Amino acid sequence: MTYRTNRREFLRHAGAAMSLAGAAGTTIAGDPVQNAFEQALTATPWLNAFASAQQNDYRSTVEINGRWPDELRGTLYRNGPARHEVGGFRYRHWFDGDGMLHAYRSDGTRLHHRARMIETPKYQAETAAGRALYPAFDSVPPNPAEVSSADAINPANISVLPHHGKLLALWEAGSPLEVDAETLDTLGVYAFSDETAGAPFSAHPRVEPDGTLWNFGYLSSAGLMALWHVDSSGRVVKTGTVPTAPMGMPHDFVVTSRHLVILIAPLHYRTPEGTSFLGAHEWEPDHPAKILVVDKNDFSAYRWLELPAQWVFHFGNGWEEKNGIIHFDGARADSPALMFDDFRALMRGERPRRQTSVRQYRYQVDLRRNIATEAPMFDERFSTEFPTIDPRVSCRRNDRLVMLHRKDEKQALHPMFCGVSLYDMKADKLRSFDYPPTVMPEEHLFVPTPGSEPESDGWIVGTAYDFGNLRTELNVFDVAHLEDGPIARAELPYALPFGLHGKFAA
Ligand SMILES: [Fe+2]
Repeated sequence: MTYRTNRREFLRHAGAAMSLAGAAGTTIAGDPVQNAFEQALTATPWLNAFASAQQNDYRSTVEINGRWPDELRGTLYRNGPARHEVGGFRYRHWFDGDGMLHAYRSDGTRLHHRARMIETPKYQAETAAGRALYPAFDSVPPNPAEVSSADAINPANISVLPHHGKLLALWEAGSPLEVDAETLDTLGVYAFSDETAGAPFSAHPRVEPDGTLWNFGYLSSAGLMALWHVDSSGRVVKTGTVPTAPMGMPHDFVVTSRHLVILIAPLHYRTPEGTSFLGAHEWEPDHPAKILVVDKNDFSAYRWLELPAQWVFHFGNGWEEKNGIIHFDGARADSPALMFDDFRALMRGERPRRQTSVRQYRYQVDLRRNIATEAPMFDERFSTEFPTIDPRVSCRRNDRLVMLHRKDEKQALHPMFCGVSLYDMKADKLRSFDYPPTVMPEEHLFVPTPGSEPESDGWIVGTAYDFGNLRTELNVFDVAHLEDGPIARAELPYALPFGLHGKFAA
């Protein structure tokens, strides 16, 4: 496949962005968003989670309280936007900032934390210039520079992937950035092959238990969905494209034993002129959500199904029965209001209104009858996101799901998720732990006990932001006793910007 269209698209976009910046007349000295955020910060402690990292490089060793399991060996890597202002210009959206990569390792009694800014070409150029040079996902700085490629503006800020001996920091619209797994030195823009250099590689690749990797990437103005099949050694087995018009902005997908399944919400790429990349999209709820189902063995064999308009950031997992019934689950909202309203409000120092609740749904696709159906898994007051599974059942049948949850809107002191849950689908049993009211959990992962049966013994591992004493903490729960609270907990001597996704490398 060719990715020239992608570069052209971003070039076109940058041109459009420049004309907007000129018209808007923003000046760095008086950035109203920066001023509003700083004013709000003093009275709103949880907002600190959306301030920039105070250092480019963190390193600490702290005592672990409780009992760190002997068999829990490895590194939790996490990523997320951490530089929200450059040269006095504050980004307009939570997803715009430059990525910071974290590594958490335990020696049994102490926790070692290391974090570094990911030194993308964008980060290096803007640091050298002392100002924001490039349009971001939803921000256009004053007098933006010309964009030569998607990777020139790639902040590598969404997730991280340990694969074929490499550690890759992921964005959504460009290449992975390779990072040294020990030192967190940025090694550079990564290409799986010469032919695929610069191609969009989503932040949510699916990796099967044998290491086979599948991914997608969208080429908005070309109206093409790019597809990836990479083996466990990092070799590109095949790529392909599927015409997709109008193009949406899918963030995640699922893979079964035989298919790739991509839900494309009716958030359509319509008006690229004079706005940010996000602003180029229109929410069209009178259009259906479309489901693209592609044969894993032959990317030219695909079909489309429909569901009512909806928005899904994240899916837990997908699997398939022999009779052609595909099952998957996802955190479904009625609209992308979170992305347009809430995540912009955070940057201005405003409390998001949370007009749209996010609920976990289960989906079925019947390939014999070409029908897709959906049903909520929980009560509408039980809002969930960041669904994750035991990685040993990835793309296979799973019965357990780890999620962040939010239960009681009135009691929450902050607008983010409040606790972590484990749902056993077979037994229809939900177990939960609520964090203290000043603690905002980030994504939690299921880390299995080595050698145990899939989805049986293991731990739930996750970080959290405590705005009560401005500290980031790491917690470990026993999967069998989640509701009893963490069995091991360590508090860093500082607070880190609220992050997005991580992976545990055993
Ligand atoms: Fe994500």
